[in-house]
Amino acid sequence: MTRQSHCNICNIIVRGNINLINVTKWPMPMMIKDQFQRPLRDLRISVTDRCNFRCPYCMPAEIFGAGYKFLPKSELLTFSEMTRLVQILVGLGVVKLRLTGGEPLLRRDIEQLVAMLAAIDGVEDMAMTTNAYLLPGKVQALREAGLQRLTISLDSLDDAVFRKMNGDRACVADVLKGLEAAEQAGFSPLKINAVVQRGVNDHTIVDLARFFKERGHILRFIEYMDVGNINGWRMDDVVPASEIVSRIDAEMPLEALPPNYPGEVATRFRYRDGGGEVGVIASVTKPFCGGCTRLRLSCEGVFYTCLFAAQGTDLRTPMRDGASDDELKAIVRKMWRERTDRYSEERTEVTSAPAQKVEMYHIGG
Ligand code: GTP
Ligand code: 5AD
Ligand code: SF4
Ligand code: SF4
Repeated sequence: MTRQSHCNICNIIVRGNINLINVTKWPMPMMIKDQFQRPLRDLRISVTDRCNFRCPYCMPAEIFGAGYKFLPKSELLTFSEMTRLVQILVGLGVVKLRLTGGEPLLRRDIEQLVAMLAAIDGVEDMAMTTNAYLLPGKVQALREAGLQRLTISLDSLDDAVFRKMNGDRACVADVLKGLEAAEQAGFSPLKINAVVQRGVNDHTIVDLARFFKERGHILRFIEYMDVGNINGWRMDDVVPASEIVSRIDAEMPLEALPPNYPGEVATRFRYRDGGGEVGVIASVTKPFCGGCTRLRLSCEGVFYTCLFAAQGTDLRTPMRDGASDDELKAIVRKMWRERTDRYSEERTEVTSAPAQKVEMYHIGG
């Protein structure tokens, strides 16, 4: 279907084809819907609570210092337990997986998990979000195990800015080495995530955009979000997506693109000179809860139905107590059917937050 409309972020005209998902292809009998009729389609699995970076907006070094106690191995779900849960979820409509952390490459033998998940009938797409530091030694094995897509986090190309934003754990060249290894292994185009914080890296937005335009990868700028309780988030720190788009558009003119699929978190643009795609993720100023089909599994086996949830549903305990697949499936079905989460929309309406939210490093992005 060819349409012309206006982008909801910046009023730029959207031209192009909307790739509507063919709902008749969805396995309707197994689809479950929440209180707002949103089906369960995506699962994001946090495979570890550890990270080798200390981004102040996620794992500030003052809190996650040398004495910080991460979860012991016995509390982490094993690969077999994760695989079992995914098999159950595929039976409820999940088709898309994303592996996150913490930093997923810190989980030993992660490629074995990728291979186990890739073998599940019904998993159509598997991606990973990583800071790329450990990619050179891992990326080939991940590709061979069946990982389909990679997203790399990189907040700035300016070394001083980037170091500040990762707690002084890596320089830009470290990430670019990982990125090159990913390119060589055949992960192309890559998606690149850059969180934008006012007064921290917003002056480097256009440089980052220019770099990835030339490199042919899809860069997305993410509005800094109030995830968790420890990053001291303030609305003043957020650079609205509309401003990000205007700044890029002023240097390299943009044209809006329609979403690839309903509920896509990024609003997409292409450069008018034909030089590729860039996006913004406006979860603060233009929330996208209406199309949210995402469930999150923490590394210790707790399901969260929202990135900003205060509480989750523990599946590890029943699983280790001997629950059958049908019993576990019933727990998930009930949880999803009762789901009413729309935190980002509510935040925009009332600007009040649940008392204790789960931290980002615990359930990935
Ligand atoms: P694909 O289309 O599968 O490639 O997804 P994507 O790459 O467009 O987005 P991804 O799922 O990687 O999410 C990118 C970023 O958007 C995350 O790192 C989060 O910062 C943010 N995000 C993703 N999902 C949600 C969500 O459900 N709620 C909010 N508020 N933010 C989200
Ligand atoms: N706001 C926006 N994005 C965040 N990320 C981590 N914390 C935040 C936050 N508070 C991003 C990371 C990474 C992805 C997993 O989520 O930079 O790209
Ligand atoms: Fe680690 Fe990613 Fe959190 Fe930074 S944002 S501390 S790289 S998990
Ligand atoms: Fe989904 Fe919650 Fe994010 Fe809204 S705030 S899009 S409900 S995860």
